[in-house]
Amino acid sequence: MQTSEAVPATVRAVRYDEFGPAEVLRVVDLPVPRVGPDEVLVKVRAAGVGGGEAPIRAGRLRRVMRTRPPAGVGNDFTGHVAAVGAEVRRLRVRDAVWGLMPHLTFGSTAEYVAVPERLVAPAPGTVDLVDAAALPSAGTTVLTALTEKAELRPGQRLLVRGGSGGVGTVAVQLGRSLGAHVTALASARNLAWVRDLGADEAVDYRGDAATRLAPFDVIVDTVGTDLPAVRRMLARRGRMVALAVDPGHLAANVLFLARGTLSPSRRVVAFSNNPGTERLVELTRYVEDGTLRPVVDTVFPMDRTAEAHRRIEAGGVRGKYVIDVARG
Ligand SMILES: NC(=O)c1ccc[n+]([C@@H]2O[C@H](COP(=O)([O-])OP(=O)(O)OC[C@H]3O[C@@H](n4cnc5c(N)ncnc54)[C@H](OP(=O)(O)O)[C@@H]3O)[C@@H](O)[C@H]2O)c1
Repeated sequence: MQTSEAVPATVRAVRYDEFGPAEVLRVVDLPVPRVGPDEVLVKVRAAGVGGGEAPIRAGRLRRVMRTRPPAGVGNDFTGHVAAVGAEVRRLRVRDAVWGLMPHLTFGSTAEYVAVPERLVAPAPGTVDLVDAAALPSAGTTVLTALTEKAELRPGQRLLVRGGSGGVGTVAVQLGRSLGAHVTALASARNLAWVRDLGADEAVDYRGDAATRLAPFDVIVDTVGTDLPAVRRMLARRGRMVALAVDPGHLAANVLFLARGTLSPSRRVVAFSNNPGTERLVELTRYVEDGTLRPVVDTVFPMDRTAEAHRRIEAGGVRGKYVIDVARG
């Protein structure tokens, strides 16, 4: 078996050397990552841009996250296997794959990444690798949120807060396919678009229309602000999956989550996505059977990653910004 294809000595990657605005992001040359015995080296085709990455890069989450510059960006990727460690069993050189960086680490916006085999699975054969980069992180997060944490059932009422974003667009699609009645909260200009994606109802988050549609059996929050008011829209035995924090009110967030997770009714569930191989394989299946499709707003070349960060900070995204690493 071939364990490696020809790999260059240095690779281009996006990094930042200090916390700050999007302009701190630069493309640099780094040594090609070393591959451990249980790891695969992936030649990256594309990487997603997560909404949570901008506050991390700006240093606004330094009190709750270990990430310190110099650091990379990008938590997920698509590509193909360029080398395998001695203990790797499932994957082979040249396999088309997708996956995630190890929990709470970043750096997939790079020509090559070395990651444990368990964080990588065959990419779906039905979508191209650039579009597919919208899904590994958002898709596995939503699968865990809706099936394992919220135990969403057919006929239940689901509210997706942030329905037009990277995570929200997956929650709308998957919620619908699981048989829920889906209400999406989004900005006014995205309401018709989110309905086209599969939401039964879409309401403007600048207003109280969602309150009038309450109660909801399950709420997926991808925003992090005003969490007590969002929780009040839950039905008595409902569950709210809180995926985001508000960098401006971290202490209040922590207190709210601590209280909410202990509450027997209107329970709050918070988790940090750290999927195993099975979850990624499940995601591949959902894409291949047509249940889920990647929703890509704009594809940027690697040397315009800062622009993608500026855009995500400005708001208005429809789905996901994706960095096409192979395009420079
Ligand atoms: N816990 C986990 O494991 C996990 C995993 C993945 C992501 N996350 C977190 O989830 C969050 C969202 O990530 P993402 O990639 O989906 O970000 P994103 O693509 O930027 O999406 C955020 C969405 O929220 C909308 N929004 C903003 N304010 C809102 C409000 N008050 N009410 C309703 N919607 C509002 C935005 O709409 P407009 O832009 O139109 O205003 C945007 O569509 C981030 O904080 C990220 O860190 C957590």
